[in-house]
Amino acid sequence: MAKNIEILGFAGSLRKGSYNKALLRAALEQVPPGAELEVFDLEGIPPYNQDLDVRMPDIVNAFKSKIKAADAILIATPEYNYSMPGVLKNAIDWASRPIGDNSFDDKPVAIMSASIGMLAGARAQYHLRQTFVYINMHPVNRPEVMVPFAADKIDSTGNVTDEKTRRKIRELLESLVVWTKRLKSA
Ligand code: FNR
Repeated sequence: MAKNIEILGFAGSLRKGSYNKALLRAALEQVPPGAELEVFDLEGIPPYNQDLDVRMPDIVNAFKSKIKAADAILIATPEYNYSMPGVLKNAIDWASRPIGDNSFDDKPVAIMSASIGMLAGARAQYHLRQTFVYINMHPVNRPEVMVPFAADKIDSTGNVTDEKTRRKIRELLESLVVWTKRLKSA
């Protein structure tokens, strides 16, 4: 039997009631057959300091190991001030280092975003895609999972209640699995 596609997910928000963490929970509930999803919490990752490239903090080494072991990555992020949050960029910066040991190299990736506003984190997603060029990741193009007015679609306990949003998340996971298999067989 073929090995499951292992996906590592993380959110660009540390907030307990995060809508983006809720998207990851909805993903956990809908993992397609033949795939597994594990979620890593970015809480506790310190600000990046290049002096520490020679001896990275334990939590960063743990994050890097999880990324390397994964076949694919799933990121759920808010948009902060028209871009990705510092917490997410900071975690990406750590895992992309030291030179020659970019944990993300050549990995497929899918993105989701939720916002309380109308534009649903779209600008953060496109900044993230720009970063994928440098760290050599291969993003899924469709479907684009951008969740506007998240407060109307996610309840106070962090459940995604909107069926259309849940379906889009399911479709994104399916697309990520197909994309990962295509890249592996190339
Ligand atoms: C925001 N928010 C926001 N929303 C948006 O659509 N575009 C933006 O540029 C910003 N900028 C922004 C900056 C900062 C510092 C904060 C704290 C918030 C609102 C954001 O979408 C909302 O707080 C989300 O709920 C954050 O995501 P989580 O924490 O719920 O996952």
